[in-house]
Amino acid sequence: MKFFIDTADVEEIKKVHSWGLLSGVTTNPSLIAKSGREFTDVLNEICDIASDVESISAEVMSDDAEGMIKEAEPLVKISDKITIKVPMTIEGLKAVSHFAQHGIRTNVTLIFSANQALMAARAGASYVSPFLGRLDDISHDGVELVAQIARVFDLHGIDTQIIAASVRHPLHFTQSAEVGADIATLPYKVMEQMIKHPLTDQGITKFKEDWSKANQR
Ligand code: E4P
Repeated sequence: MKFFIDTADVEEIKKVHSWGLLSGVTTNPSLIAKSGREFTDVLNEICDIASDVESISAEVMSDDAEGMIKEAEPLVKISDKITIKVPMTIEGLKAVSHFAQHGIRTNVTLIFSANQALMAARAGASYVSPFLGRLDDISHDGVELVAQIARVFDLHGIDTQIIAASVRHPLHFTQSAEVGADIATLPYKVMEQMIKHPLTDQGITKFKEDWSKANQR
């Protein structure tokens, strides 16, 4: 199970990159808008900071395949780490197939069913992103979708990687890892929460107290 960070905040990416466990970055139009910066400026900076990761997702916004392909042209020139993030639509599938034929990696986003994941994979997607938090929000089981996609891909020998996305809390990560997601893309806050454990903090405090007592003797 690999860690991607889901953000367009370069300071967050710098911090997590320094931890030594980061395998990728995902952005989306909402996250770019939140950063208040120009899309390609942010992408260039992310590619500089995280030059050693597996993948940096940049989303295209056109409704038609032709537009998506045009939009992707300058993006893939930024770095060979750029993965084009494409929405799960008919036009998106056409674009994915085109990109696959041209050696450009894709992350098919807004996946809410195993059928969508299977179709994206067969069109040539490198990654599929089931949005588990948004399913949970409408009383569907997001983790079960990840599990179902993992079972289907395993059964049919599909090597498209599953990115558990729309992760809201540490338990989403644990459960996604258990059911076979390859990657989870996590907000910075969730990554920080995953590190913390009250017993770890208590243990450190106790060790420090005992150590200083012993060294006062
Ligand atoms: C994934 O690639 C998306 O950017 C992201 O996980 C969406 O999460 P949200 O549902 O919290 O917006």
